[in-house]
Amino acid sequence: CGIVAYIGQKQAYPIIINGLKRLEYRGYDSAGIALLNNQQDLNIYKRKGKVSNLEEFATGKDISGTIGIGHTRWATHGEPNDVNAHPHFSENGDLALIHNGIIENYDSLKHELLKAGYTFRSETDTEVLVHLIDDIQKKTDVSFAESVRLALEQVVGAYAIVVISKNNPNRLVAARKSSPLVVGIGTEGDFYLASDATPIVEYTKDVVYLNDMEIAIVDRTEGLKVYNINSSEEKIPYIQQLELQLEALEKGGYDHFMLKEIHEQPRSIRDCFRGRLNVAEGWVSLGGIKDYENKLIAAPRLIMVACGTSWHACTVGEYLIEDLARINVEVEYASEFRYRNPIITENDIVIAVSQSGETADTLAALELAKSKGATILGICNVVGSSISRITDAGSYTHAGPEIGVASTKAFTAQVTVLTLMALMLAHKKGTISESKYRTLLAELDAIPEKVQKVLDSSDKLIQDIASLYSKATNALYLGRGNCFPVALEGALKLKEISYIHAEGYPAAEMKHGPIALIDEEMPVFVIATQGPSYEKVVSNIQEVKARKGKVVAIVTEGDVHVKAMADQVIEIPKTDEHLVPLLATIPFQLLSYYIAIMRGCNVDQPRNLAKSVTVE
Ligand code: G6P
Repeated sequence: CGIVAYIGQKQAYPIIINGLKRLEYRGYDSAGIALLNNQQDLNIYKRKGKVSNLEEFATGKDISGTIGIGHTRWATHGEPNDVNAHPHFSENGDLALIHNGIIENYDSLKHELLKAGYTFRSETDTEVLVHLIDDIQKKTDVSFAESVRLALEQVVGAYAIVVISKNNPNRLVAARKSSPLVVGIGTEGDFYLASDATPIVEYTKDVVYLNDMEIAIVDRTEGLKVYNINSSEEKIPYIQQLELQLEALEKGGYDHFMLKEIHEQPRSIRDCFRGRLNVAEGWVSLGGIKDYENKLIAAPRLIMVACGTSWHACTVGEYLIEDLARINVEVEYASEFRYRNPIITENDIVIAVSQSGETADTLAALELAKSKGATILGICNVVGSSISRITDAGSYTHAGPEIGVASTKAFTAQVTVLTLMALMLAHKKGTISESKYRTLLAELDAIPEKVQKVLDSSDKLIQDIASLYSKATNALYLGRGNCFPVALEGALKLKEISYIHAEGYPAAEMKHGPIALIDEEMPVFVIATQGPSYEKVVSNIQEVKARKGKVVAIVTEGDVHVKAMADQVIEIPKTDEHLVPLLATIPFQLLSYYIAIMRGCNVDQPRNLAKSVTVE
């Protein structure tokens, strides 16, 4: 979900609406706003659907006020509708709040509040919190901020909240635990609060990222004050400069963020290895984890935890690190890892891979590993994110903001960092010959250009292929070795944005099940590039053709063999087999994009999904 709030001299409504639009990628099933006008009326507008629905609804109503809070939701408790949308407000309408996260003990709190005579309008866990604050205010004479703090002391769960009070028109109270919150410090004594920096960057570069268990008061005259939620101890806010550029948050002439991000990959991959790879001098270095190199090469195993697309990147990393550096790697779904009593010791190194750096399960898996004494490292895209802050060390992927919900450039950047890591470890450990090392460095350096070539040469062809299969109801993606995760990622992209059921499989496993699905209607997308398993994949293609399946193959430039068998082929430039995932994934991204467009789907905001899943 997304949070935006403002307090200052300017009108809050346009700032909040604009901010919510920037945050829509975090959730978009309902949106709402609460504004306190000069007459001290707290006006609250909420609407199911997109922020534009909310805007329409608010047209002609009183939207004045220089203090306000807004929210765009990704439903957890309670279906997306007007009532369940945030802000939630107290019975007398004096208080309103927005919340990201989950209140785990909401049932018991609700029970108590019902006994105290409160009635509940919504089915959300959040409404409990607003009544709880109200209850504390009624029973005590503590300040507004203190009532919020006391309420939070009773809450079990995760939250980023901002609260507005009719009787306190000069301040907002915000707090965070396990869900991010950033305070932007404006130049005119004004403040911008948000769940990430994207709505803030156009107003100020000075920001404070709240830490876990911190409560912040932003006051028109007293400014920003930060306290610990449990101890009330005052903290000194650390002001950081945002490096984010506003242009990175715009579509820049493309129809969709996803298409823009696909086309950014030659640059984002290069940005990812800038300063970390030197072909002439023959070195790779990941500065962020330099101090952990010895520990990494001595480790009996590395455990990687992630979700979604990031999990696929880990799986590519597993092949690379095991093959090149001969270090045992285990890849785990963060959500499974944390709940199955995993065996972790102080010798273990747990590496989290996450675009947002906020995924709740990944964060919790790391916390678990940390509590068992393991070293925890992170590979994140979002600078300053929760994972990047709790880890002992890490490497950023430097792909720039990714707005499209379906991850594209973040994936290739993650694979790039993992490739650099595999090379660095292999060289240090001596499991790779100098000449192979040098070849791989040069090949990796050439990848951005080759990605550009794929984008330039296959766009039209992929549109044609997309039109052939846009009405499919099922699709199968096959790959072997380090291209098996590419098949998984290809299938995920298709289902995420076009709602076609798709499965990724290791090519050889097809005969143990999915082959039963193959008929004349079913497209099978196969990665059949030159490499050690080429012949085996060719056999798998023949198995599909023998059952009249349709085969679309990704092949190495100049291939004739597969071309003769497949229905369509997409050529990619030749590279070392270890680097094929970085190229083979590009046609699948474009294919999903064009199929989704042809099916009339909302590519950047596919139904039911959210970019950053900060709930478990
Ligand atoms: C969500 C997103 C996916 C992403 C996954 C993990 O499901 O829609 O695109 O791969 O979360 O997110 P992370 O930010 O941890 O990489």
